Amino acid sequence: MASPWKIGMFQCIGLMGAWKLPDNTSTDFLDLDHWLTMARRCEQAGVDFLFFADDYGYPVVDDAIPAGALRGGIQFPKGDPLAVLPALAAVTERLGLVTTLSTTVEKPPMVARKMATLDHMTKGRIGWNIVTGAGQNASARLFGVPMTEHDKRYEIAADHVDLTLTLWEGCWDEGGLVEDRETGVYADPDRVREIEHHGPHFDAKGILTVPPGPQRTPVLFQAGASAPGRDLAARYAEAVFLAAEVPALAEQIADIRRRAAAYGRDPRSIKCLIAGTFYVAGTEAEAHAIRERQLATRSFEDGAAAYAFFTGLDLSSMDPDKPLDPSAGLTQTGRTNVERFLGPDAPTVREIIEEFQRNSVMGTPIIGDVGQVADEAERVISATDADGFLVQPDHTGTFDSFLDLLMPELVRRGLVAAEPAPMTLRERLTESGSPHLPETHPGAAHRRARAAV
Ligand SMILES: Cc1cc2nc3c(=O)[nH]c(=O)nc-3n(C[C@H](O)[C@H](O)[C@H](O)COP(=O)(O)O)c2cc1C
Repeated sequence: MASPWKIGMFQCIGLMGAWKLPDNTSTDFLDLDHWLTMARRCEQAGVDFLFFADDYGYPVVDDAIPAGALRGGIQFPKGDPLAVLPALAAVTERLGLVTTLSTTVEKPPMVARKMATLDHMTKGRIGWNIVTGAGQNASARLFGVPMTEHDKRYEIAADHVDLTLTLWEGCWDEGGLVEDRETGVYADPDRVREIEHHGPHFDAKGILTVPPGPQRTPVLFQAGASAPGRDLAARYAEAVFLAAEVPALAEQIADIRRRAAAYGRDPRSIKCLIAGTFYVAGTEAEAHAIRERQLATRSFEDGAAAYAFFTGLDLSSMDPDKPLDPSAGLTQTGRTNVERFLGPDAPTVREIIEEFQRNSVMGTPIIGDVGQVADEAERVISATDADGFLVQPDHTGTFDSFLDLLMPELVRRGLVAAEPAPMTLRERLTESGSPHLPETHPGAAHRRARAAV
């Protein structure tokens, strides 16, 4: 039997698409109860994890945040997921909790320490989404540093992950934590050692001061589908988030699996998850009506602001009747959403803005009654060779329609696991039977080096 689909739920500590609708709750994003309720609902419904996207960016055009982005709440405002996750861990037992830390903004020892601490606080349910970061132009301005070039950000990311893995896997041997009050020994000096890393971008010598948690290394996710992004995923990721139309998704997934094999990894050990938007209701007509209500909340100006956030490009200053100039593909902000609109059948600038007004970075939504949506979801999975979905919130800012209507149908069809037991996120996602990174992962090499000492 094929493995069950993996289902994650997408959020950020901020406004969600249709926040202007009266029945949308995402304006409560600074209210902890909002998140506690959502986490409990996700756990009860049996989904695998709740993911919080994060970055320091926002749209910047002509060296300023556009008034329309402030008015419309476009990729703004944003709070910090790390302040929320431990509270969610306290009210759940099985739900995986995943968030982003950027390799461009955060230094490796910071990522290692925060995630190692969260691995304990969540009892082994934490995942790290590795990104070089969306909204780079805004983020660089905010931190007062020059923007690092796109491909160089990915070179830095690879070195960053290598060092971070060394800290997680290389410092503490099994048995390094003694914690014996009678002998007064906390840690065994023969089993806890400083690591040394001299990479192209990072130098470090020292220990991770947090003893290993249940997973030791958090589950490694990745997002960002430009060519170097896919390469980073193939080297290190255990799960990848992708958003595109079905043919492009199929190509991206095949490419990631090919690259993974070239790195000596099992291509199927990377769970490819499609960021999917679902409008599911009692009838097809109701589902379309909800879609129409949601569409009415987003203006053409909102579409252009969202595009500026992801790419650093100001479409509103370009000829709306022409396609993007190919030089746009050299943007130093994000490339996934430039590359998808270049090529022989390239849409016009106006059409790109309209696409962002409708769907932002996500592919075409799946709309219909329960049976129609489940059928289409099955078709998308088989056409792309994906392993599951990262579900976008519905028009209410929650996942109620997906959890109440679609999840029971997916369980009935045997597509998702019915009653997952409490376990670590890695065991749940990879079905490897171990909470730790597999031996075939490059992170395990730091372990081998340690054992050889
Ligand atoms: C579902 C999904 C979730 C993502 N989450 C984040 C995130 O939390 N933070 C972030 O900076 N980028 C995130 N990204 C990636 C960005 O959209 C962007 O592609 C990337 O940061 C820039 O890399 P690129 O040049 O490879 O596109 C996400 C992408 C997808 C499809």
